[in-house]
Amino acid sequence: MNKKTIVKVLSVVLALVLGLTALWACGGDEPKTDEKEQLIMATNAAFPPYEYKEGDSFAGIDVEIAGLLADKLGMELVIKDVEFGSIVGGVETGKFDMGMAGMTVTPDRLESVNFTTSYATGIQVVIVKEDSSIVSLDDMLADGSMKYGVQQDTTGDIYASLTPDEGGYGQDNVIRYKTGAEAVQALATGKVDAVIIDNEPAKSFVAATEGLKILEAEWTVEDYAICVAKENTELLDKLNAALAELEAEGKIAEIIDRYIGD
Ligand code: ARG
Repeated sequence: MNKKTIVKVLSVVLALVLGLTALWACGGDEPKTDEKEQLIMATNAAFPPYEYKEGDSFAGIDVEIAGLLADKLGMELVIKDVEFGSIVGGVETGKFDMGMAGMTVTPDRLESVNFTTSYATGIQVVIVKEDSSIVSLDDMLADGSMKYGVQQDTTGDIYASLTPDEGGYGQDNVIRYKTGAEAVQALATGKVDAVIIDNEPAKSFVAATEGLKILEAEWTVEDYAICVAKENTELLDKLNAALAELEAEGKIAEIIDRYIGD
């Protein structure tokens, strides 16, 4: 080999090495540019039509709104299905970025977490058996003769557990279940006399269970919002801005109408 050929061969080898290195570097970088920061949402997916399981995946109003919020924030939505009562605490300690679970804004919760602007309204209603002696809220007695079923740690639980003087039925007359569905099952089998729960899940549970009805009266009217840790004002601001955009685009109404309609 003469000098010229050696230089040629070397330069070809060098070009190859450089080319391969460039390819490898690009390839190695690719997942990074794709990797989005996670937005960890805690929910309790036993609350149709806001959140429920469809096979292995999550569905519902909150799930869809959260998906659009994550898109707007350029983040990847990760949903954790936990007990309703552990959502606020988990958000407060930073285990979850946000809690979205048809969650009512209450003064008590506001002491531990912040809430976004409200994206929906919830109404607490009363479910009874079709042949129940309870036909209006006035028939709901707090003398120990009646038991009220609720999902543990929900506003139904909180308000029903107040003393009769405060408008509730007293701690001892309230029976707490892990899910609304279990409370409704207890009603269907005669273990409780009424269930106090949000109106949309109530409709869905009553439709799925024979012999139950919803009293016409509204027990309370509440605002649903997303909770975020107090110190995470950056996320709170971003969520509020994204919610306002989705609202203006008519996306929130579209999702709610699709699940609830009228
Ligand atoms: N709105 C009620 C509350 O905030 C009940 C919410 C229950 N949500 C659920 N995903 N189980 O207390």
